[in-house]
Amino acid sequence: MNRGSPVIEVRDLIKNFAVSSGFFGRPGTFLRAVDRVSLLIRRGETLGLVGESGSGKSTVGNCILRLLQPDGGQIFFRGRDLAAMNRRELQTIRGRVQVVFQDPLSSLDPRMTIKRIVGYPLTVSKQVRGAEVEDRVLAMLREVGLGKDHLHRYPHEFSGGQRQRIGMARALITEPECIMLDEPTSALDVSVQAQILNLIHDLQKRHGYAYLFITHDLAVVRHISHRIAVMYLGLIVESASKDTLFENPCHPYTRALMASAPRPDPFNRQDLAVLPGDPPSPVHIPPGCRFHPRCSSVMDVCRLEAPPRVRIAADHEVACHLYPST
Ligand SMILES: Nc1ncnc2c1ncn2[C@@H]1O[C@H](COP(=O)(O)OP(=O)(O)OP(=O)(O)O)[C@@H](O)[C@H]1O
Ligand code: SF4
Ligand SMILES: [Mg+2]
Repeated sequence: MNRGSPVIEVRDLIKNFAVSSGFFGRPGTFLRAVDRVSLLIRRGETLGLVGESGSGKSTVGNCILRLLQPDGGQIFFRGRDLAAMNRRELQTIRGRVQVVFQDPLSSLDPRMTIKRIVGYPLTVSKQVRGAEVEDRVLAMLREVGLGKDHLHRYPHEFSGGQRQRIGMARALITEPECIMLDEPTSALDVSVQAQILNLIHDLQKRHGYAYLFITHDLAVVRHISHRIAVMYLGLIVESASKDTLFENPCHPYTRALMASAPRPDPFNRQDLAVLPGDPPSPVHIPPGCRFHPRCSSVMDVCRLEAPPRVRIAADHEVACHLYPST
């Protein structure tokens, strides 16, 4: 497959969650965490998914990984609808689409050696046995900057950065095509973060992985992405190539995020939690444009009608009444 060919395509994905207790609502009430999200993740490219806490980023990733069952929409792997696949085919896809989580320590079993942790996906899928597992694990550890000395050690013996390298090795051992990276560096010191970002980038150059990189750090998303989708309360409000988005941010939410983070530098953290107005909650989604209570450009129509998603350039879409469809 060539660079740029679609690996994962998400069309109109919907995911609802039951709101459990009486505090937010009656039993049987649902919140919509993801609302008709469409994305394309291409070979050799990184799609950055950025938005404040609770905007639905991880829920999108977990639906792609089939850790969550979507309530609507379609997910295609190399053009094939996951919903139309049988159990065996889905099992194969599991190896092709992998994940690296934010907190390497809680996602690595403390009682297992690195050899078992990294080799586990191979032994589960029964692709490889015996000495070959060790050879493959060792090759993978070398890819991520670790070595033979580390094989028989346990997660607690490693630093945060090394643990994230182990998490990467475990994700890569099944030779995946697509990797979800869910805040993979936000638990790390900034200097270590830069090393891990470089590793993630180098591995992509070597192997052509398609990445979905989830973060609420604008500097990180700018450093690592080819294209960026901005999420607000379950919706993609703007998507574009990285350069277009940073040169010409159009949605007032994207602009507000950028205004709040004037120096895009991966050596400085730039979390997004500094916007004025109430933090968004999918339990109480405002009518019309859901950003309107916090928008400095709000118009009457914004309180009544949700704006459609409009293509304003070849690789640039915005959902805002300032950009009417023609
Ligand atoms: N299993 C669940 N049950 C009920 N509600 C959930 C569940 N998982 C997520 N949610 C809700 O769905 C919304 C989106 O959550 P999600 O974790 O996808 O956001 P996020 O963008 O990844 O946030 P963060 O940056 O904090 O990780 C939130 O309101 C969250 O409370
Ligand atoms: S639709 Fe209106 S309220 Fe929403 S972002 Fe655009 S201008 Fe602001
Ligand atoms: Mg998340």
